[in-house]
Amino acid sequence: MSENTTPNDPQPKHDFASGGVDRRQFIQTSAAVITAAAVSSASPLLAHVAGQDQIRVGLVGCGGRGTGAAVNALTADAGAVLVAMGDAFPDRLYSSLKNLEQSDVADRIKVDEEHRFTGFDAYKKVIECCDVVLFATPPHFRPAQIEAAVEAGKHIFAEKPVATDSPGVRRCMSASEKAKQKGLTLVSGLCYRYQDAKIETQQRIHEGAVGDLLALQCTYNTGGLWHHGRKADWSDMEWQMRNWLYFTWLSGDHIAEQSIHSIDKILWAAQDVPPVKATASGGRIVRIDPKYGDVYDHFNTVYEWESGIKGFHSCRQWNGTDGNVADYAIGTKGTAAIQHHRIRGENEWRFKGKPNDMYIAEHVAMFDSIRNGKALNNGDYMCKSTLMSIMARMSAYTGKTISWEQALNSQEDLSPAAYEWGALAVRDVPRPGVTKFL
Ligand SMILES: NC(=O)c1ccc[n+]([C@@H]2O[C@H](COP(=O)([O-])OP(=O)(O)OC[C@H]3O[C@@H](n4cnc5c(N)ncnc54)[C@H](O)[C@@H]3O)[C@@H](O)[C@H]2O)c1
Repeated sequence: MSENTTPNDPQPKHDFASGGVDRRQFIQTSAAVITAAAVSSASPLLAHVAGQDQIRVGLVGCGGRGTGAAVNALTADAGAVLVAMGDAFPDRLYSSLKNLEQSDVADRIKVDEEHRFTGFDAYKKVIECCDVVLFATPPHFRPAQIEAAVEAGKHIFAEKPVATDSPGVRRCMSASEKAKQKGLTLVSGLCYRYQDAKIETQQRIHEGAVGDLLALQCTYNTGGLWHHGRKADWSDMEWQMRNWLYFTWLSGDHIAEQSIHSIDKILWAAQDVPPVKATASGGRIVRIDPKYGDVYDHFNTVYEWESGIKGFHSCRQWNGTDGNVADYAIGTKGTAAIQHHRIRGENEWRFKGKPNDMYIAEHVAMFDSIRNGKALNNGDYMCKSTLMSIMARMSAYTGKTISWEQALNSQEDLSPAAYEWGALAVRDVPRPGVTKFL
């Protein structure tokens, strides 16, 4: 069987939208499938919450992933109840609510009219009325959301990436430290970290199954994702927000928005020690229409670690081309295929059986930590992977080698001047050699 397929890994095929599949369609058409599969895998863990108090869950960002995360959360914990929802747009909130009310967890969807919030400030109101908040908006908004939730003393599930620029990463780092001090749980949506097959593969790498690491390699090659076009009455801001994937200030570009999963897997293989520098190239070859904003459609990166290990990363979103999502740790004694849970060489091994459902497992871990009073904090790798993606993007955009320190200290703030439904110019598509590192 080819290692470019993921026979035991059904979730990413849908959720990462390879081949142009709309991520939301997955949720809308198969919420029942998710929950049915999930209930059986989670049921042994439900016993210990029986009879305990309910946990009030709020959802901010009611798109494909947010709707899925709400189902996952309520499936993972029998006492979890969805009590509030927030989205920038009413139509998105109501279509999500409708899907949730038809899902297997419909009996615990208790979001009355007064707890449906829209607009840029919706997150503040959702945070007020819940114990746990699920953040699944475009990543630009995550730093403010995480800060506000920590400030209010709420537990957090934060989808990846957690920022689109370095100031945003720094805000998340500091909010994550505050969460630790306050004993709050912060779980990252870097879901592979919760899949048993990946966990075992990574443990074996860490224990030396491939010997000393020589190189890491990861690839996230897919087709294009959705585009919602533009309606005549949409302001620039609305158009960009509804098509957020294509604006770096909102998504971080696809290297951060999508390929972060692969980048995170090589960071994990390197035991969460980040590389010291990145040299990347990229551009837009097929997605050149102005409707695609300012993002690139491909990146190629060489990461270098202090230890001398190199990490080779590539990603692209090109329709009609071969897809491939795979990551490897290459060592003196063999090679581990991380995405495919296999080790070749002196210590041959393959994960047997069906991997668990990582989208449920991350919520099981979150509720377990909350109910047992043992705060769980994924802030370290969540911020490092986000910065690793941004560091490579900065290198590709500028044509310069960017060090970890430079990336960490960059002052480039991609935020718009104001959060209002008005005019908003699209940034120039970056040009290596012309675009400056800031
Ligand atoms: N872990 C995974 O496997 C996975 C898979 C898909 C998406 N994601 C991540 O989840 C997030 C959402 O992705 P998606 O595919 O659901 O996108 P989506 O466009 O389907 O949903 C995003 C939602 O957020 C809303 N929104 C935008 N700005 C907002 C704001 N300021 N306040 C409140 N709501 C706002 C949008 O209106 C939309 O309904 C992204 O960070 C993405 O990278 C993770």
